[in-house]
Amino acid sequence: MAFESKWTEDLKTNIGIIDEQHKVYFKMINELLASSLKGEARSVIGKSIKILSEYVITHFSTEERMMTKYHYPKYDSHRTVHRHFRQEVERMALLFRDNLDPTKNVILKYDYLLVTWFTNHIKEVDKKMSKFLLEKMEEEKSFTSRIKKFFGLGKKR
Ligand SMILES: [Fe+2]
Repeated sequence: MAFESKWTEDLKTNIGIIDEQHKVYFKMINELLASSLKGEARSVIGKSIKILSEYVITHFSTEERMMTKYHYPKYDSHRTVHRHFRQEVERMALLFRDNLDPTKNVILKYDYLLVTWFTNHIKEVDKKMSKFLLEKMEEEKSFTSRIKKFFGLGKKR
């Protein structure tokens, strides 16, 4: 079990907003795991889980908006994977809410999903997406600069 979740350079997608959100995600998970292990109050952990669920929705929509904007061909499958992850987080929240297991066990049961699964998702799925997006952004930039040049609006060197 990975009790420390940390963003590392090899997870870099080179898209600023996505990397920032991934960093925040790992911070949140780290705190959630640490407070669960410490046996923090249920109200504290419950709040963290709620914030996490909301954050996951925000983060996935950031990625999905970008994929839509640039007509990413693997949008559907990427979105499906996001949906499954979100459902799992919701399941965790319910399990926690209904107190079917001690708090610690609920979180630890989801340790693999929250840390390993998410890390692999960045490495394998998000990186492919960001490679595509970066190429499209580059094309967009060079198109814009050609147009600007055409109209005499380009930067003069
Ligand atoms: Fe993703």
